[in-house]
Amino acid sequence: MAPEMNSVISVRRPKLDFDRPIDRFYLDENPVKTHIFNALNLLFPDGERFFVKSVHDHAKDLKDPALLRDVRGFAGQEGHHAREHERFFAVLKQQQYDLSPVQEHFDPVVKLGKRLPRWLRLSITAGAEHYTATLAALLLEHDMLGSCDPTMRDLIEWHAVEEIEHKHVAYDVLVQCYPKTSYPLRLLGFALATLVISSFTLLGLRTFLKQDGRARRLTREQYTDALKTLRTGKELAFRHSLRRSLLKYLVPGFHPSQQDDRSLLERFVPLITQRAVTE
Ligand SMILES: [Fe+2]
Ligand SMILES: [Fe+2]
Repeated sequence: MAPEMNSVISVRRPKLDFDRPIDRFYLDENPVKTHIFNALNLLFPDGERFFVKSVHDHAKDLKDPALLRDVRGFAGQEGHHAREHERFFAVLKQQQYDLSPVQEHFDPVVKLGKRLPRWLRLSITAGAEHYTATLAALLLEHDMLGSCDPTMRDLIEWHAVEEIEHKHVAYDVLVQCYPKTSYPLRLLGFALATLVISSFTLLGLRTFLKQDGRARRLTREQYTDALKTLRTGKELAFRHSLRRSLLKYLVPGFHPSQQDDRSLLERFVPLITQRAVTE
């Protein structure tokens, strides 16, 4: 395992000022990039509470005290992520976005998810955590935030670093609790996580872009330019790396620690720690 796995998972409370005005297209002034993040934001609060419950439901079966300690750190970090992303809903509503077209489809999926057996919930959680950790590392590595609004930069960098810090937790719980079937479970969980994350990101993106178009906040030219950006330069390199890194989860001997993120942690942990209260 890479050394970052042995460090304590710190729980921090960031000081995020959502009362100051936040630009509508806060991410690189790019509506498509911004709305992809807005769409993911809508999934985080319920999604992360689902992750915590799924992992927590296996805590009593864990024998390894280090992993138990990490489960507590994981739950603390995800709890704060869920709360802060829920606070951001108010900003989106203030910007006159109607969140209901996404929420009315996502709520039944969340309800259904809660009724699934705990082994399936854990496998979906481990798959989704591979998504969040991969996105997090590549966002920071490829400098994808560009000219981002400062509050949103604080939110995204804090969340990204903590996703990297706890990336092994759900995976290790899955392997310890289901040692004989962890590989097929991993594949199934990844397939379901992919289905939910990709379909709701697309639905969210389409919903926000449609609302911008209707309210004449976004012209066709602005939309075409924003899309063009995603097909060139660092955005294109990011998309290629994302596909490659996500697929590594399907390799039989995969472990999250194989992706060495130590240099990212060395660079960003001091920054986010400075901006937060550590519990
Ligand atoms: Fe999170
Ligand atoms: Fe996470």
